[in-house]
Amino acid sequence: MTVTAAFADQQAAPRPGARTPTLRNYVMCPPEHFAVEYVINPWMDPDEPVDVAVAMRQWRELKETYERLGHAVSVVPAQPGLPDMVFAANSGTVVGGRVLGSRFRAEQRAAEAEHFRRWFGENGYREIVMPARINEAEGDFAWTGGLLLAGTGFRTDPEAHAEAQEALGVPVVSLRLVDARYYHLDTALFVLEQGAHPQIAYYPEAFSPGSRRVLQRLFPDAVIADAADASCLGLNGVSDGRNVVLPLEATGLAEQLRARGYEPIHVDVSELRKSGGGPKCCTMELHG
Ligand code: ARG
Repeated sequence: MTVTAAFADQQAAPRPGARTPTLRNYVMCPPEHFAVEYVINPWMDPDEPVDVAVAMRQWRELKETYERLGHAVSVVPAQPGLPDMVFAANSGTVVGGRVLGSRFRAEQRAAEAEHFRRWFGENGYREIVMPARINEAEGDFAWTGGLLLAGTGFRTDPEAHAEAQEALGVPVVSLRLVDARYYHLDTALFVLEQGAHPQIAYYPEAFSPGSRRVLQRLFPDAVIADAADASCLGLNGVSDGRNVVLPLEATGLAEQLRARGYEPIHVDVSELRKSGGGPKCCTMELHG
């Protein structure tokens, strides 16, 4: 290589440690009918008032953050009488163009599944399986690019893990959640980098001892979050491989991510957290 070519090559190379984002397809549902009217997780308190206008503003900022990063966001219309429908992650798992719909544990959320099933049908998805077992979709399923990490303990049935493996044709790793505040896998773990060498962040205390050992074996270099990161739902993050959208209180986690070459982007989800949700809960990713 000539000196000039070597120089040009160096100029084009990303700065050391910087990571490369990949463009994502997300699905969201506006919190037009958001409310906390029932209690299905320890974050929910019907006596604490929620402000729909604030929730809408926070949701719009989240959506605009994704769009600014170049990601595509599809919107499923909100339905009256379904105050938790803003948590789109719970309504489908899509890998390689195959859709596994959801089946909610709480009767109050049951009808959400059908609205999303219809949306998939109207948006070109032909392989849609609706589960027989309780399955709260990306609330409890995280795709690493090679494995589907699957949570159980509070919502998704362990039998739904085998069902997901069969429906999606991907290997599933079952993980047991043990702390009711971290009732969905996506409140305690998220994928930072998908692919052949995936990277995750998680809060070990949310998992059973055996599941902790599984995570340690599979991801020895994982980012380990502490109690403060977890208790603001900091693990409910959304990463494109470089930019990581996080609740603004997750400062310790952000520091760790920055040290590893990620770009933390903070959003305010204070209103949505009153129902036990953060950025990831509001965001379903269409994989492949
Ligand atoms: N209130 C909702 C519930 O308890 C919050 C769901 C949050 N979604 C999530 N993916 N963690 O079902």
